[in-house]
Amino acid sequence: MSEISLQTAQRLVTLLSGAMKGMTFYPARHPAIMQPLQEIMDAAEKVLRSQPEIRLGVIDGVFFIEDHLFFTPTTSIEELAGRLMEKEFSGIIIRRGVKLHDLTLFVSLLGRNNLNAAQIEKEMVEQGVTGISLKIVADEGSEKTEEGDRESGALQTYSQALAAIRDVFKDIESGRIPSSEKIVAVVQNMAAMAIRDPAILMSLSMIKDYDNYTFNHSVNVGVISMALGAFLGHEGKEIEGVGMAGFLHDIGKTRVDKSILNKPGKLSATEFEEMKKHTESGTDIINKMTGISPQVAQAVLGHHLGFNRQGYPEWAREMPLSPMSEIVAVADCYDAVTTLRVYRRPLNPKAALDEIRKLSGSYLNGNLVDKFVEMMGNYPVGTLVRLDNNEIAVVFRPNRENSDAPIVKVVLDAAGRRLGDPRVQGLELQGGSCYASIVDVVDPSLKNIDVASYLNS
Ligand SMILES: [Fe+2]
Ligand SMILES: [Fe+2]
Repeated sequence: MSEISLQTAQRLVTLLSGAMKGMTFYPARHPAIMQPLQEIMDAAEKVLRSQPEIRLGVIDGVFFIEDHLFFTPTTSIEELAGRLMEKEFSGIIIRRGVKLHDLTLFVSLLGRNNLNAAQIEKEMVEQGVTGISLKIVADEGSEKTEEGDRESGALQTYSQALAAIRDVFKDIESGRIPSSEKIVAVVQNMAAMAIRDPAILMSLSMIKDYDNYTFNHSVNVGVISMALGAFLGHEGKEIEGVGMAGFLHDIGKTRVDKSILNKPGKLSATEFEEMKKHTESGTDIINKMTGISPQVAQAVLGHHLGFNRQGYPEWAREMPLSPMSEIVAVADCYDAVTTLRVYRRPLNPKAALDEIRKLSGSYLNGNLVDKFVEMMGNYPVGTLVRLDNNEIAVVFRPNRENSDAPIVKVVLDAAGRRLGDPRVQGLELQGGSCYASIVDVVDPSLKNIDVASYLNS
């Protein structure tokens, strides 16, 4: 994994995008171009001291730099991603030893409308550029496995879900009744995926985008709810319903004052009263939307009532609780405890399950918690583990037959070196022997490892 910070990654894209746009107004040596290019060089050289190359590009419409995926891009990221896709680039590799000349030429070629990626590559080779190389869409895909295709399809659906949720929130904020078309399509897609392979869906829920917590949390709760719904054996339509309820469960927060929503730490009694209204406001919003079933509104109303009915809204405590509400409540708690908030460190998936178990039978339905724990296995997807051969690996897929021996991706070798190309390894080998055993769960922040990047790429 890369040492590049999110801040540096964002800065690099903004500069690159700015320089590319500038090329259409100014000659290449103009200070308005040279200054961002020099800044990119400085930042890149710093990163390239500790790693041989920096990879950036677009995968399934999502812009990335190294392990950072930009699901909710800024305008400059969108512009750059759009330009790369239009020219059919899939990636750019900046290598140690890159020169200002390489970068200037690349950006000026990128800014020209009449050149595609293959022509840009040819021109760069002819001009002796060695510090930057390009990946072209047509180069790829041939070696893709079916599994890889499915994963990238899942990733694409995830980013569509984020976009759909963002639109719903935006509509409400600008006083419109949100349209449900996009979100219905996404839910249908994901429900089908949940039935095929709930583990892929669960691995998507490891994507944490701290800058866009509300959208990210909404999508994750939908994703986890659908995986659990499928694991419980529900039918397609029911899974779609529970997914929709998950996506929209906190939609009422659009009507809660931002200063309360973003307040770090404990809310005052009055602030909490305000926050509690989000279940009713959510129901109210959903009832006005077309194409969303009343059960979804009902599930949203009840997602904080609690199995023991000690939650809110108080007036609804005597009402029958929808099974959908209970599934969403489990998903909501699980995503909350695995996510970093301003005031709390995130828990790894295994510790998060212990936390969820504590709520079993009180706030959460005990049977559902048992099923959820069973679905997740002893080492849930996304857990970072130490093996008895000293390698560090991310749990990649569960092993239904033997929950202690999942399929992992080895990310650090026994000497603690990062593997450039993490290896997929089943811990259980054919004939009953095993590759290695898990000895411990490791905190990803101690190893500076972004587990989600290994699960979805
Ligand atoms: Fe909520
Ligand atoms: Fe929530």
